[in-house]
Formats: sequence, structure tokens, C-alpha cells
Amino acid sequence: KPIIITVDGPSGAGKGTLAYRLAEHFGFELLDSGALYRIVGLMAHQAGLLDDAPDELALSDLTQSLDLSFLPNSKTRAIDIYIDKKPLLDDIRNETVGGYASIVAAFPKVRSALLDLQRNIADQKPGLVADGRDMGTVIFPDAHAKIYLSASAQARAKRRVIQLTQAGKEANFDDILADIIARDERDENRSVAPSRPADDALFIDSSSKSADLVFEEVLQFINQ
Ligand code: CDP
Repeated sequence: KPIIITVDGPSGAGKGTLAYRLAEHFGFELLDSGALYRIVGLMAHQAGLLDDAPDELALSDLTQSLDLSFLPNSKTRAIDIYIDKKPLLDDIRNETVGGYASIVAAFPKVRSALLDLQRNIADQKPGLVADGRDMGTVIFPDAHAKIYLSASAQARAKRRVIQLTQAGKEANFDDILADIIARDERDENRSVAPSRPADDALFIDSSSKSADLVFEEVLQFINQ
């Protein structure tokens, strides 16, 4: 059985950075569960399923029919996503797709369609670092160590602006803050797998902590 570390929390709290560093440190596999919801959200949008009130069965059919694979790209050192054996060329890391993701993520049948995929990802590996919203509460309740990383909405919006600007994309602080607050609302108040810390999670507020400090506190917690 692989050793599992879960990192949950709201958008922009630094989950991705922390998960990447932990995976590198321990030599574990990474599961970016948000990418799964982003892909389903984008595909649902492209299929016109989000134009009106979404139909849960149509969304879960679409989710079940996706043939997804994730392959490390040695040139870019990123993970390339393939859908039905074809590389995904669309950008899924923007707020528009984040919004689609949080809409489809509120449907129980979409979530259950992604359950096995997430649980099986680490089967052949010594360990896994999984980041998302429900990694510690629903997907891996028996994880070895659980982290819930949060930060004020202002701090998270500020970080997103810096990230986007560095990536050469346009970023407006007020728009991003509004998007983050709307997405938090949806993710925390949905009926299924709401974003919340597991009872046995280490809670960290990273508003005024550097990525290095967060990493250190987490390592201490894991090794204790
Ligand atoms: O990177 P960021 O935290 O902004 O978002 P993400 O982790 O890529 O997730 C995008 C959206 O997918 C979230 O707002 C959630 O609605 C949904 N999600 C979820 O419901 N459960 C997960 N385990 C991961 C993401």
C-alpha cells in the first residue's frame, strides 16, 4: 500500500507548490485532482452542457467516457494531459475553466465517476501526494498525513495576480478576488464533499508565511 499525503484547501493557498515540493522530497507520485475537474469542466463547456442548468446524467456520462492519461514531458518537465490519446492543447489553468470546474464538481455523480481513477493512481507507486478539496476527507480517509492549507482571500488573490503576471497573462486583482470568493462559496457550501479540513488534518494559514516556512512546518508534522 502506498504512503499517502493529502493537501487540501481553497484556490491560491499554495497547495500546488507544497504538493510538488513534498513529492520531490519523498520521491512520490503527484495527483493534481483539480486538473480532473478542470478537464471535465472544459469538456462539458465545449459540449454545450453548461449553457443551461446542467443535466447531472449527461455530465456523469461525459466524465465516464473520458479516456485520460497523464505523461511527464521530459522537455518541459510538466505533466502532459492526453484525452482519448490526443494531447490536450487548451489552457485549463485559468479562472474561466476554474469556474467550470467548480460547477461540475458540485454534482455527486461527476465526483463518483472520478473516484476510482483517483484511488488507483498510486497503486504501483511507493507513495502519493494528492492535492484538491476532498483528498483527506473522501478520497484518501486513511492517508498517512493530511494538510489543510488556507489563506485569506486577499492574500490568495494577490498570489494569483503575481502568478498570472509572471506567466505573461493579464490579471486584474478585483476580478480575481471576486472569482476566488465565488468559487470558495460554491466549494464550501455544496452538499457533496464540501471543501473542509479533515478532523485529523494539520491546518495552516499561509497568509503571512513563505512557501519555505510552510514546507518546513509540514515536514515537521509528517516526521513527528
Ligand atoms: O488550483 P486551484 O486551487 O485554483 O483549483 P483546482 O485545485 O485546480 O480546482 C478547481 C476546482 O475543481 C475547485 O474550485 C473545485 O470546485 C474543484 N475540485 C474539487 O471539487 N475537488 C477536488 N479534489 C479538486 C478540485
